[in-house]
Amino acid sequence: MQEDKDKNKLTQNEILGNVLFPSWEINKKVAELGKKITDDYKGKDLLLVSVLRGGVIFLSDLARKIDLPLSLDFMSISTYDVAGEDTGVVRITKDLEQSIEGREIIIVEDIIDTGLTISYLMRNLKSRFPGSIAICTLLDRDIRRIAEIEVKYSGFKIGEKYIVGYGLDYKQRFRNLDSIYELNIDTVKKDIESLKANS
Ligand code: PRP
Repeated sequence: MQEDKDKNKLTQNEILGNVLFPSWEINKKVAELGKKITDDYKGKDLLLVSVLRGGVIFLSDLARKIDLPLSLDFMSISTYDVAGEDTGVVRITKDLEQSIEGREIIIVEDIIDTGLTISYLMRNLKSRFPGSIAICTLLDRDIRRIAEIEVKYSGFKIGEKYIVGYGLDYKQRFRNLDSIYELNIDTVKKDIESLKANS
């Protein structure tokens, strides 16, 4: 029942901890990255590819800081489950709408952790003969990296923090916040325990 679900939903104040990156700092970083990309891709056929859903907030701000003609496209992927078990196999649930052959591609992500998602995407997109592919991420948690990848444009390095906002979610909420916040870990732990108890 919707009413019961809403009653159990934690409020923003209960979930959010400290601000890790305030909106002014994010905006400044996005402008810097946009300027670098503008300098690097003059005269090229640039296509920005975003991975749904977290990457779209960053993509929409970044694209407006790139002073070049460019195109946008979107992909969506999920890990392949068998009987509820994560197999680690990635599959495309929404593919690009256009050919990338001979074009200059930048994959735009909100965050890279293990690098497994982006490494799968790179392999997949490389097989379509683009002119080049580069990676741009706002947040780079390289201490969790498993796959070997080269990140050409990186905003902020972060450690082992649980964060939300500016595209990043907790149970699909808080993607629309202007700033990036740490999660209140005590509240989240209790939330997970109560979910387990009710399942
Ligand atoms: C996040 C992020 C990347 C991926 C990075 O997406 O947007 O796509 O995780 O993790 P990795 O480097 O360990 O592979 P998520 O799966 O949370 O989905 P979302 O974009 O819908 O939030």
